[in-house]
Amino acid sequence: MNDRRDFFKKLGILGLTSVVTKLNSQTISVENILDKISGNSFVLPQLPYAYNALEPFIDEETMRIHHLKHHKAYVDKLNSISSTKFNFEISDQAKCNELKLSNAESTIIKNNLGGHVNHSLFWELLKPNPKADINQPNAKLLDAITKQFGTYESFKKQFSETATKHFGSGWCWLINERGILKIVTTSNQDNPYMPKEISGCHSTSILLALDVWEHAYYLKYQNKRVDYITNWWNIVNWEKSEALYLNSL
Ligand SMILES: [Fe+2]
Repeated sequence: MNDRRDFFKKLGILGLTSVVTKLNSQTISVENILDKISGNSFVLPQLPYAYNALEPFIDEETMRIHHLKHHKAYVDKLNSISSTKFNFEISDQAKCNELKLSNAESTIIKNNLGGHVNHSLFWELLKPNPKADINQPNAKLLDAITKQFGTYESFKKQFSETATKHFGSGWCWLINERGILKIVTTSNQDNPYMPKEISGCHSTSILLALDVWEHAYYLKYQNKRVDYITNWWNIVNWEKSEALYLNSL
């Protein structure tokens, strides 16, 4: 349990405690972030499917490099940082803000912890062995999306355009912000779990996560981010997205 408490503390400094709460409530199986922790070490989670399971939409080589190089680098960096750097109280908001905004080490922690959390979510929200039929949300989430965006197609269009236009490296998200579904982007490895003054948005309920860093698509799609996004819709794991949505109500 001490391991878990330490991990909560590490997440808490960045306003990320909620991700563990969500992930630990069986709505999504990134509990392996927690389960595999030994001591104060972070552990790269195993993918819940084979590296080639997202073909032809995301190729095996991209998945291997993305997971074993990029995601692993965030985990390794976190483990290279002395645990004492994580040791301050979650509830001490002023101190957290001071560290977040002025301390270079806190920026390194933010970037790498964000990278670890974001990728852990990303893998889980992808569906292996895509079928030829239409991939779309289940009933309750579909209703919510339709209510918010008019139609599912208009939602897809708006999400795709937002992700495509995001300048530079970052992420596109669907969040539930106090009952309102919103499409937002964050830069680098920031995410909506972080405080708004850091990431530009805030929600404890992420429903979709799309990595728009070039490393997510460059090998197969080169500079054509829009093609990567178009194909990503075929492998969205709507079952897990709906579980996150229901958990957010
Ligand atoms: Fe990535």
